[in-house]
Amino acid sequence: MGKAALMTKWLREVGVDFVPRSLPKDKRLPGSSSEGAETLDEILRELAGCGRCVLSENRSRIVFGTGNPSARLMFVGEAPGAEEDRQGEPFVGAAGKRLNRWIESIGLAREDVYIANIVKCRPPGNNVPKPEEAQLCMPYLVRQIRVIRPKFLCTLGATAFKYMLGVDERITKARGRWREWDGIPLLPTYHPAYILRNPSSEEEVMEDFKDLARRLSLLET
Ligand code: URA
Repeated sequence: MGKAALMTKWLREVGVDFVPRSLPKDKRLPGSSSEGAETLDEILRELAGCGRCVLSENRSRIVFGTGNPSARLMFVGEAPGAEEDRQGEPFVGAAGKRLNRWIESIGLAREDVYIANIVKCRPPGNNVPKPEEAQLCMPYLVRQIRVIRPKFLCTLGATAFKYMLGVDERITKARGRWREWDGIPLLPTYHPAYILRNPSSEEEVMEDFKDLARRLSLLET
């Protein structure tokens, strides 16, 4: 199976009906028109007490997502870590502080964007989420994206990139190159935790954020 077919298959499995780009915007995602659309609160309520996968067994809290429900820019990370599990909010530990710095570097605040993860419960030992865990949890992320309808998506790290697009490419090659997720431009960049370990790569992240800022400002003109 070719890359495009694999991606389509994966997106279908996580709840995205693949629709060719040429269709009008309002036809792209069934249920995505504002009429009768669900809210983030409704999705959160549905998630309460979730026991769909083994990650629920060790979590303290479901880490749903945070930020502006009408954000133009949405970040997708991998999974909650220890601090996120304690506080119930994504990216509040050391990696989160670095992400905040990047967001502020383009004149935005954390409250201006929306931040969520591929899976909403902390994998024990901070393991990478398994495909079956991602597959069970991602329909909630897909629904969050449908409600928020950001103008741009930015994946943080290899795992979010791989699961969002259903591809297995090296993040070192993929970062900084725009893709598309169901009609929404998506920019993959490095994960802030990776940058904490490899500070010399932060320059590339700064380029990616400048690119995001440029695109966001183009929207305003
Ligand atoms: N890393 C992630 O990918 N997500 C978080 O919420 C925290 C750390």
